[in-house]
Amino acid sequence: MSNDIIQQLNNHNIYGYGSAELIKFETQMTTYFSREFKRWRNNKDLPEVHGVSSFEGDIAKKETHAESIEHYNKKFNIYQAFLDKKYMAYTMAYYGATDDEPNTNEAKSLENAQIDKFELIIKRAQIEDGHSILELGCGFGGFSRYLLEKFPNITLTGINPSVVQTAHLRETLLDKNQQTHNNRFNLVQKFFDDITKDDIDFGSYDRVISIGVLEAVTNLDKLFKLISLALKSGGKTFHHFIVSTDTIPQFLSAEDTLMADYFPGGHIWPYDEPKRHNTHLKFIDSWFVNGMNYWRTLDEWHKRFWESIEILYPEYLTLEEVDDWNKYFILCKSMFSPDKGKSYGNGHYLYEKN
Ligand SMILES: C[S@@+](CC[C@H](N)C(=O)[O-])C[C@H]1O[C@@H](n2cnc3c(N)ncnc32)[C@H](O)[C@@H]1O
Repeated sequence: MSNDIIQQLNNHNIYGYGSAELIKFETQMTTYFSREFKRWRNNKDLPEVHGVSSFEGDIAKKETHAESIEHYNKKFNIYQAFLDKKYMAYTMAYYGATDDEPNTNEAKSLENAQIDKFELIIKRAQIEDGHSILELGCGFGGFSRYLLEKFPNITLTGINPSVVQTAHLRETLLDKNQQTHNNRFNLVQKFFDDITKDDIDFGSYDRVISIGVLEAVTNLDKLFKLISLALKSGGKTFHHFIVSTDTIPQFLSAEDTLMADYFPGGHIWPYDEPKRHNTHLKFIDSWFVNGMNYWRTLDEWHKRFWESIEILYPEYLTLEEVDDWNKYFILCKSMFSPDKGKSYGNGHYLYEKN
């Protein structure tokens, strides 16, 4: 790493991964979140008590659609610098941390931990070769790509409104020269609220999957109705997203925290909230995935971001943007680590068509 660039950034109070300044900042933020989790320990208030409902409104607030995906429309080189090389998954990787054994496997690479997450989801979502799958918010297409490689007879439709991510999907999964995928991937570049039966084949999917998407969804009821229409009889749907163990009132709406700077319109639902949604779909099972898996993923992303800082700054990032990304990694990390990952992690939910 060039000392010149680091010095320039330090002169603007921007410090790199592993620096004493950032470690201090993360410690302070972790202490803050530890206190908040303690303050709300065992609070099982329904979101309605705090003026938020997962049964009302647009699937995701329409007025802020464009802003809500701004975070996924930064320059491609930035994501390429820190995400795992091949699949570019932009969600928690699975390092094997559980509530009984919160230590992550130090020897596991980010690349292998993302594959282990994919495998865990395949198992819990009961995905099989020959299935027709609808992936909601498919990002850079990592999970879809993994399925296409693993299962020769699987077909996929991905929904994603992001211009930057869909440009990558067109190059990797839709490229007609990608013989291996043999036109088995179909892309719908739209927001969920704009989806009609002309975009997806209602009643045709064996599985509807989302990974790291329901944090952006306001009306789970309305989304589940759409999913129910999309599924064929006997079809199942699986969702992986960030949840808090207890109800943390200010997390129910991103606008009440710093998170709105990065994910306007977002929500962190309590672990029990999605289980209340049993009308359009039948709830089958859920699992809590310890937050240390996400802490370790973010730590690895943050490290890789700084290993590429000479490539990124100043060509692709302004000073302010370097500072923003730095704060983003620290803020997210410090939410996952309190209570050894037991208070804040990911929920896995499986439902079937009613
Ligand atoms: C955290 S990323 C996860 C991407 C991918 N599933 C992965 O694991 O890498 C969230 C994804 O949800 C998509 N998304 C967010 N809000 C959406 C909306 N209202 N309609 C459709 N997709 C949305 C974003 O474009 C992005 O691709």
